[in-house]
Amino acid sequence: MANTIVVGAQWGDEGKGKIIDALTESVDYVVRTQGGNNAGHTVYVNGSQYVLHLIPSGILNPRATCVIGNGVVVDPLGLKQEIEGLQKLGVNIDGRLYISERAHVVMPYHKELDAFREAVKGTKQIGTTKRGIGPAYGDKVARVGIRILDLVKQDRFATLLKQRISENNEALKRLGGEPISYQETLAAYQEAADFLRPMVTNTVMLLYKARKEKAEILFEGAQGTFLDIDHGTYPFVTSSNTTSGGASAGSGVPPTVMDRVVGVMKAYTTRVGGGPLPSHDDGLSDMLHGLGREFGATTGRPRRCGWFDGVIARYASILNGIDELAITNLDGLDNIETIQAVERYEDQETGVSYDYVPGDVELLERLKPVMKTFPGWMTSTENAKCWDDLPENARTYLKWIESFTEAKLKIVSIGPRREQTIFM
Ligand code: IMO
Ligand code: MG
Repeated sequence: MANTIVVGAQWGDEGKGKIIDALTESVDYVVRTQGGNNAGHTVYVNGSQYVLHLIPSGILNPRATCVIGNGVVVDPLGLKQEIEGLQKLGVNIDGRLYISERAHVVMPYHKELDAFREAVKGTKQIGTTKRGIGPAYGDKVARVGIRILDLVKQDRFATLLKQRISENNEALKRLGGEPISYQETLAAYQEAADFLRPMVTNTVMLLYKARKEKAEILFEGAQGTFLDIDHGTYPFVTSSNTTSGGASAGSGVPPTVMDRVVGVMKAYTTRVGGGPLPSHDDGLSDMLHGLGREFGATTGRPRRCGWFDGVIARYASILNGIDELAITNLDGLDNIETIQAVERYEDQETGVSYDYVPGDVELLERLKPVMKTFPGWMTSTENAKCWDDLPENARTYLKWIESFTEAKLKIVSIGPRREQTIFM
């Protein structure tokens, strides 16, 4: 029995959805604690692929109850659509999904402002998902947000919307945008509110009672460590705490009841959107894209690809307190003769060597990764059933990652299907 936090150890898209699905067999509750529908967690439902954005991946395990915690920003229209999509695939949601009354609501003006704020940045764009995430968290911190508990109270929502929409329409006008319609927004949001109302509750007490009954809880991270608002490659980050520390604040479950942190990392590195990717490699990007891999689950954009970055991975291990590693997409490296990995960075101007990720992105952009090479295994790993089935060169590579990151290797994933998961 363990309460587990699952975090992405790179820039998101590490394969968290699949790992969470693999880990939830014995789990009673799966909780999202941050982010919104910028996340895209790919899972398989009765043989068909489905991308979850707001609903925890545990929804596919019939025994699990799912919780959208207070730290999440919820687009009610997107959530309703996602629930309906799952229902169409035969997934039973009744009594299995709860939403924190304290979670904040993503409004249409947040999405518009997200797009406009990006447009004025020119070449310095963050490359956001345009889901309104930054502006929604901005309103939360500025204490002018609308929460789920406001959304589900008809009169209160109408009043708040009137105030907020006029102020935001002024801002949109200044940026050259179109005003948002009060009536249309009210109608659409009230329809979603009616649909979601039965799921809204005080999730702190729900999870407290679950703990009293010795339930096992899994906290599903969205995005990745280096998109963290505090610890990531600021300003090329998302607007929430994606590191393990965020799980407590975003759920109201105290740090004292967390038992382990599982860090998910790809056997190489990817990034979608702007900002530094020190281990970037054009050849590797082309090869993976050629295999039809590494296109965004939320936006469809091709992801930039690079070699495994040990500095990034080790820093993620330190920041999150990663106990156990899940390494995904090992099969992506199956046909590479010589595999590279970053051991440290060097500032060629000053000769200074870095074994950690500096806070200054301009410095990070300038640093040169110092690479270690590994002989590839040049054979398919996708049918491996256990550790010993993996080629020796693959095992050597994985063992290096394990010792470099000072965490215990627990899972190796070699394909999207459930059975393509090796547990140690
Ligand atoms: P999952 O959970 C990968 C990136 C965006 C952009 C930056 C800010 O699927 O791993 P935002 O819309 O959050 O303001 O965008 O963060 N980003 C992600 N990249 N996977 C994600 O989620 C991401 N969510 C946001 O591309 O660079
Ligand atoms: Mg994603």
